Amino acid sequence: MPAYVIVGAQWGDEGKGKIIDYLSEKAHVVARYSGGNNAGHTVINEKGEFRLHLVPAGIFWPHTTCLIGNGVVVDAEVLWKEMEELRAKDVDVSRLQISDKAHLIMPYHIALDKLEEQARGNKALGTTSRGVGPAYVDKAGRSGIRLGDILDHPSLLPRLQHVLEQKNFLITRLYNAEPFSLEELYERCIQWGERLSPYIHAVENTARRALAENKVILLEGAQGSLLDLDHGTYPYVTSSSPTAGGACTGLGLSPMAIAGIFGVYKAYTTRVGAGPFPTELSDSVGEAIRQKAWEYGATTGRARRCGWFDAVAARYSATVNGLTSALLTRLDVLDGIDPVKVCVAYRLNGKTITEFPSSAAVLEKCQPVYEQTPGWKGSTANVTSLDDIPEGALRYVKRLEELIGCRIDVISTGPRRPETVCIRSPIP
Ligand code: GDP
Ligand code: IMO
Ligand code: MG
Repeated sequence: MPAYVIVGAQWGDEGKGKIIDYLSEKAHVVARYSGGNNAGHTVINEKGEFRLHLVPAGIFWPHTTCLIGNGVVVDAEVLWKEMEELRAKDVDVSRLQISDKAHLIMPYHIALDKLEEQARGNKALGTTSRGVGPAYVDKAGRSGIRLGDILDHPSLLPRLQHVLEQKNFLITRLYNAEPFSLEELYERCIQWGERLSPYIHAVENTARRALAENKVILLEGAQGSLLDLDHGTYPYVTSSSPTAGGACTGLGLSPMAIAGIFGVYKAYTTRVGAGPFPTELSDSVGEAIRQKAWEYGATTGRARRCGWFDAVAARYSATVNGLTSALLTRLDVLDGIDPVKVCVAYRLNGKTITEFPSSAAVLEKCQPVYEQTPGWKGSTANVTSLDDIPEGALRYVKRLEELIGCRIDVISTGPRRPETVCIRSPIP
């Protein structure tokens, strides 16, 4: 009964979409367990180029069942559009199931996300403005609307009325913005229910049945471990649990079901939105990486902040998740860059530290201590065999492996599915 969790091991956008599409060849079930359409997972394969926000990246393999777990917050409009786009490109979405326990992102959540960001002024978090944070606030506050609720019309209306009174009070009185109409919102919920009802299920049963039948389940993480609500650089985090623990609560599986935890790392580091980033490069090298790798957000189009690989953060993330495998992406981006640096420690108040600080304010003060290696000659781009990786690049990978404290089993050398070096399959 093997389930494997795949987590982003940095600040998101590590290339999880590419890796999950690649690994899904061996999976029967692929399930998203956290986050919402703040995620943007790029997949490039024979069907085309896709930026998935909610549908699991395993959808392209015809043998998979794809689940959206209870831990995900769902914008029904975005999900429907994504399903239509997939259908238009000949991808069968009838294999998709959405948890009846997943919470909806409502239009007032999106409005509040933007209003709260504006109110934060120069302390804004740089959220994706998709309503994700406010939707999780309501989930924890027990005033959320779940997918299952929109199928139960008689109880939906009074519930919505009660919630909307509170939201409209906040929106109009605190933020001086326009209220939402109960009738319009109710009609939209009914329409979402009509469209999505064939897909809404108790998906945990599907997952548990698959485990009982000894099928392989991939649990697709979104965001990154350093954006985890508890373990990330709070408050510059997202409002869910992208780390491995979130996979169990986000799908209703026992921790005993997890046979392996895979962390996806980029060969350097990026971050979108505000928050501390010790290895950030605000110079021409950072800009060169951004342009070469086209580091612009798959969801918002924002320029991603770029920097060197931060091994202090990487090791912390490996520990928080208990990684059994590391998978390295975008090695090809560092081809031709000379020298290449890796942060191996921080300097803080005259001392050298190797523990990742708990506080964003402390991390903000940390100065990176770099180890420098000459760039490598030759190219790793599109390479599919370990023998064809230039020696210098291989040394870099080995050094990252030592610093992370976990085996690197897969090296990705391009965005397309075959552009991958499998050193040892993480799924036996
Ligand atoms: P995710 O959110 O973790 O799925 O990552 P994103 O899709 O937001 O960003 C990763 C970007 O890197 C996408 O544009 C991918 O197509 C691209 N990508 C993934 N792996 C590789 C790789 O090994 N090399 C290159 N050059 N691009 C890659
Ligand atoms: P994937 O799955 C990178 C960041 C936002 C912001 C912070 C809070 O593609 O790796 P939110 O909208 O979640 O309240 O924003 O989290 N963020 C991501 N950064 N990749 C993501 O997802 C992200 N999802 C959220 O930029 O800093
Ligand atoms: Mg992304």
